[in-house]
Amino acid sequence: MFVPARLVIDTDPGVDDAVAILMALASPDVEIVGLTTVGGNVPLARATRNALALLQAAGRSDIPVAKGASKPLRGKYAYSPQFHGPGGLSCRLPEPVATPVAEGAVQFLYDQLTFDLGETILLALGPLTNVASLLWERPIALEQAKNIVIMGGAVDTPGNVTPKAEFNFYSDPVAAEIILSSRLPVTLVDLAACRQVAISREQALGLHSEHPLGKLTLKLLQGWFKRESSRQSFEFYDPLAMAITLDPVIASVVKVDLDVGIEENWSWGETSDTGWPGTITLLQEVNAARFFRLLEGLLEIEGLPD
Ligand code: BDR
Ligand code: CA
Repeated sequence: MFVPARLVIDTDPGVDDAVAILMALASPDVEIVGLTTVGGNVPLARATRNALALLQAAGRSDIPVAKGASKPLRGKYAYSPQFHGPGGLSCRLPEPVATPVAEGAVQFLYDQLTFDLGETILLALGPLTNVASLLWERPIALEQAKNIVIMGGAVDTPGNVTPKAEFNFYSDPVAAEIILSSRLPVTLVDLAACRQVAISREQALGLHSEHPLGKLTLKLLQGWFKRESSRQSFEFYDPLAMAITLDPVIASVVKVDLDVGIEENWSWGETSDTGWPGTITLLQEVNAARFFRLLEGLLEIEGLPD
């Protein structure tokens, strides 16, 4: 009998986080065993509210949400209301009835990753504070993951917060450095990969779906464009990380060793390739057509790019 893979998602929703979560909810290949939240795109309380509201709107309030870090290991979260909207999502969702579970994110991640050894995928879509705290407090848990997929970093490509830094790594570079230097076998989806899967304003506003989760996805995506008439293109950051989790051949990869800069006013959040042999699997060339077909298949969205 086919058993879907267990998936736990660490997230700071976020428009693109929400689209990624909807993809997983629509997929028969994974079962979301929980969401853990972290400050990032919005403050922690709002990220947690958004995670609960999204699950409720998707009819999946049965999925537990555990609250994580409200502060990075060093510095301050940058927050991103200009990109995601003041509340973090580009459309209004009813206030959630459910509340987070009593366990904090670190304990929750530990419980999930050690529940069925080697069977749970961890997908991290926000700053890596919870994941680094887990490594620090319960070192064996991450070794038990079936796979660790992370969206973050800008390797040999311009950043999206500073000329060289990407938002998730910039928000908690110390946590990112702890994870990337741990020699854990992580798959990293950086900005260079994500920029290969974008949709134009005109394409996005022409999309259509009759699938309930597809409709919700389009409410978020089209709402994002409608908020500001100057927006011309949406890059599928977190959805690409979800896509490689669901379909590992969607991109070519290379093994690298990476450093994350932690010097304030100098290298804060910047990712660089050390040139040494490494354990990090970094996405290279993305099959954009395959990405859009995955999105179309899961969420029954019509009109996506070929
Ligand atoms: C990352 O930063 C956030 O704004 C997005 O949700 C994504 O995780 C892209 O740099
Ligand atoms: Ca995110």
